[in-house]
Amino acid sequence: MDTKTANGGAAAAALAGRKIALGVTGSIAAYKACELVRLFVKAGAEVSVIMTAGAQQFVTPLTFRTLSRRSVATGLFENPETWVPGHVSLALWCDALVIAPCTANVAAKLACGIADDILSSIALACRKPILLAPAMNEGMLDAPATRANFATLRARGVAVMDCGEGELACGVEGRGRMPEPPAVFRAVAELFPPATPAGPGAAPAP
Ligand SMILES: Cc1cc2nc3c(=O)[nH]c(=O)nc-3n(C[C@H](O)[C@H](O)[C@H](O)COP(=O)(O)O)c2cc1C
Repeated sequence: MDTKTANGGAAAAALAGRKIALGVTGSIAAYKACELVRLFVKAGAEVSVIMTAGAQQFVTPLTFRTLSRRSVATGLFENPETWVPGHVSLALWCDALVIAPCTANVAAKLACGIADDILSSIALACRKPILLAPAMNEGMLDAPATRANFATLRARGVAVMDCGEGELACGVEGRGRMPEPPAVFRAVAELFPPATPAGPGAAPAP
């Protein structure tokens, strides 16, 4: 996607200067998060990547550190940049938390309030908009537990994107592909609607 063209340009403008916490989880689609970081950075957003242990089986923290030009959070008990625990400081720092790809496991943790790793702890502490871009096998996606978890999260105001269709990591065609990075980029931009004339940042009434 060209961040300078019509639709991409408007999304890029909405994201310039924003602070995005990007959670990456243990899905084969973790490689798509690399492209997403590139789009955010190109738009002028700051990106802090948080990786689950599962995600680190697919892509290295070094890749995200280089693309985002920031340190990558990989563990709850590692040394954060400040004395404030990483899960609290990142939840406060960000303007939005995006989890892309989001595994069935992480969606389940979020729905239940489980906070047993760095990403789920940030998500539980986060009071900013949260957007999930799920990726999983069709069976996992259609499992009653997963459907109930996403319904719970949507009801709480979490933005959950629809999965794409096509070839899945398990070698079959079906639903469950992570939405493509440009679509996630635009969905994140929509979390930040432009200020209306009467809204914040508007010129004072004459
Ligand atoms: C090759 C491979 C691909 C996987 N892809 C997915 C996936 O797309 N979505 C998913 O929910 N789980 C997937 N899994 C299973 C998760 O990695 C597993 O549930 C793991 O516990 C998730 O950990 P996390 O949610 O903490 O990252 C995959 C596992 C393997 C070995």
